[in-house]
Amino acid sequence: MTRINRIAAMVSLATLFPLASHAAESKGTVEVVHYWTSGGEAKSVDVLKKIIEKDGFTWQDSAVAGGGGSAAMTVLKTRAVSGNPPSAAQIKAPDIQEWGKLDLLTSIDGVAKANNWDSLLPKAVADIMKYEGHYVAVPVNIHRINWLWLNPSVLQEAGVTQAPATLEELYAAGDKLKAAGFIAIAHGGQAWQDTTIFENLVLSIMGVQGFRKAFIDVDEATLEGPQMADVFIALRKLQSYLDPDGNGQDWNLETAKVINGKAGMQIMGDWAKSEWTAAGKQADVDYQCVPFPGSQGVYSYTIDSLAMFKLATKKDNPGNIAARDALAMVALEPEFQYVFNQNKGSIPVIKGLDMTRFDSCAQASAKDFASAENTDSLAPSMAFNMSTSQAVQGAVFDVVTHFMNDKQADPAKAGKRMLAAIRAAQ
Ligand code: GAL
Repeated sequence: MTRINRIAAMVSLATLFPLASHAAESKGTVEVVHYWTSGGEAKSVDVLKKIIEKDGFTWQDSAVAGGGGSAAMTVLKTRAVSGNPPSAAQIKAPDIQEWGKLDLLTSIDGVAKANNWDSLLPKAVADIMKYEGHYVAVPVNIHRINWLWLNPSVLQEAGVTQAPATLEELYAAGDKLKAAGFIAIAHGGQAWQDTTIFENLVLSIMGVQGFRKAFIDVDEATLEGPQMADVFIALRKLQSYLDPDGNGQDWNLETAKVINGKAGMQIMGDWAKSEWTAAGKQADVDYQCVPFPGSQGVYSYTIDSLAMFKLATKKDNPGNIAARDALAMVALEPEFQYVFNQNKGSIPVIKGLDMTRFDSCAQASAKDFASAENTDSLAPSMAFNMSTSQAVQGAVFDVVTHFMNDKQADPAKAGKRMLAAIRAAQ
């Protein structure tokens, strides 16, 4: 075949199979490090993946298992240090600032301006997505932390006639559940899950002001004071209701125990709902959600966000940049916000969406968020890295875990220990 004929043959092949060659060709790749690995959460992140792929980009999934994200953050640090960051990673607000200082994040102001993020997002949320005034991350949701999840048929069988609204009622429900042979509170003994319970007790016993003094102001008198001792006394008491087989268990396996009727309750953020939803269960029918006893009116929250990284030289090309921008844009589009948050258990982070498209727990969450905003009762979660850096959060984890493992530890001294650990980590 002459050269001319060979070229003609190639051209005609290309015109014969334009779709095949086109479909195989990605417009660019976006690699995302996240820790949404439970059944329900994987289903939620799949929504994002599908949209990105439909837009012609390749989604490179770098999920790192481990609730609360400590394992994912370790992987991320190692990758960043070796000059191989992903395009985007699930990072919480105070740490966005830390990564920004290291000059590893990239501005997505172009996407933000084109899509009006400043008016789409509550100002408080927009502010924490920025580093030095530039958007470097996109938020995807608002998760409430201070929830108690209940299996009403288990409660009924144990003779618990109403959802506990105070700590005393919680203990009483726990006694009845135990006496009837159930696990009272499904709980995995992992540092972040222990600290979730601790944080809820802080809100219940010390209120939102006490919480803020302790974990935002790091006020010595508050951390060492008598109310903090009461929190640790309550933690010891609550410990007697936790799943005796929960040591080291993942949160979703514990949620499954409530779903399957082995346990009556779980204290967990509303990503727990993603497991109920994935199991085909319905709010107010198969399960109930109530604010953690004693913390009604307070709304503690964490916001999941995807921070955007500067790409390594070999990956830094227009296609991959376009893929990263597409991810940022899609994350705040209403259709994604609806479907993702319906699956994830959280509420949308953008304003003005129709909450009648959500279940009763999400509707209650949105309503409680708005009223907590009006009464100055919002609490950025310490256990989920919203009020503190990861280092400070880690210091609290250590103290709480130590206290729970050492049954002889003195509740009156735990606050002092916590103060010292926080100071060392700051
Ligand atoms: C939180 C995160 C949630 C959920 C949870 C359990 O930090 O905000 O989306 O993944 O951890 O892993």
